[in-house]
Amino acid sequence: MTTDIVLYNVREHIATVTLNRPEVMHAINRDLVRALEQRMEEIRANPEIRVVVVTAAGVKAFCAGADLKERATLTPEQVAAFLLSLRRVLNTIAQLPVPVIAAINGAALGGGLELALAADIRLAADSAVMGLTETRLAIIPGGGGTQRLPRLVGRGKAKELIFTGRRIHAAEALSIGLVNQVCAQDRLPAETLKMASEIAQAGPIAVRQAKFAIDAGLESDLQTGLSIEAQAYQACIHTEDRLEGLAAFREKRKPVYKGK
Ligand code: COA
Repeated sequence: MTTDIVLYNVREHIATVTLNRPEVMHAINRDLVRALEQRMEEIRANPEIRVVVVTAAGVKAFCAGADLKERATLTPEQVAAFLLSLRRVLNTIAQLPVPVIAAINGAALGGGLELALAADIRLAADSAVMGLTETRLAIIPGGGGTQRLPRLVGRGKAKELIFTGRRIHAAEALSIGLVNQVCAQDRLPAETLKMASEIAQAGPIAVRQAKFAIDAGLESDLQTGLSIEAQAYQACIHTEDRLEGLAAFREKRKPVYKGK
């Protein structure tokens, strides 16, 4: 019997994607990329999903990056093809229309940290270590790390971390803004669920539009960004959910949003 290398479930509008290759610290091989791609397509096609959690089974590792054992068996052409598919799936994750939370339960190194960087929000266990360690292997981050890390923590800090390949602990990751929140290892699933539930209870169209406005706007100049925001706001005006929000406020009850 083969085990699923990516576990998947959807409950109460929250899709949870769990890497499941514990014997290699959830390292990313070609099969794992394919399995992730398949899940992301399912998520994209499911309008019931309002937030996605990406995590890994167990407590030791979130993801140890590219599968270095597989890598040693690949030709240079196969390595290039792997990188293309890795980039594609990480871009798909980053561009999902709904928010993605990475719950970093352990080591997130190389491509593993790049996976977390493709998420919108990062929560980490206090025991987690993180790093873009590629230069120590005489390569560079190839899954968006040279672009997403500086956009998150600033140019100088990102250069320091990438040039040295240094691993940092969760507390330092929090202090430089690499992760949003750190909690005790055993609290991570609950804290992640709490944040995911809060997002899932907000207006789903509004949350999608907010993600779009922030991401598209940040890649533009301010005036263009403000136009993008105005356009995104417009998409919320003619929705049933907006009227439900007003009605719930008037009636002093919790709103029930339908994504309409
Ligand atoms: N690819 C393939 N296998 C990996 C791996 C990777 N990226 N990372 C870890 N593994 C394997 C180990 O080889 C080991 O397998 P083995 O028992 O057959 O030797 C198993 O996972 C457990 O790893 P181990 O190093 O014994 O566990 P640890 O708890 O001491 O350390 C890590 C965990 C993740 C900190 C450590 O394995 C590590 O630093 N891995 C390399 C990460 C890296 O540099 N990634 C960047 C790639 S660009």
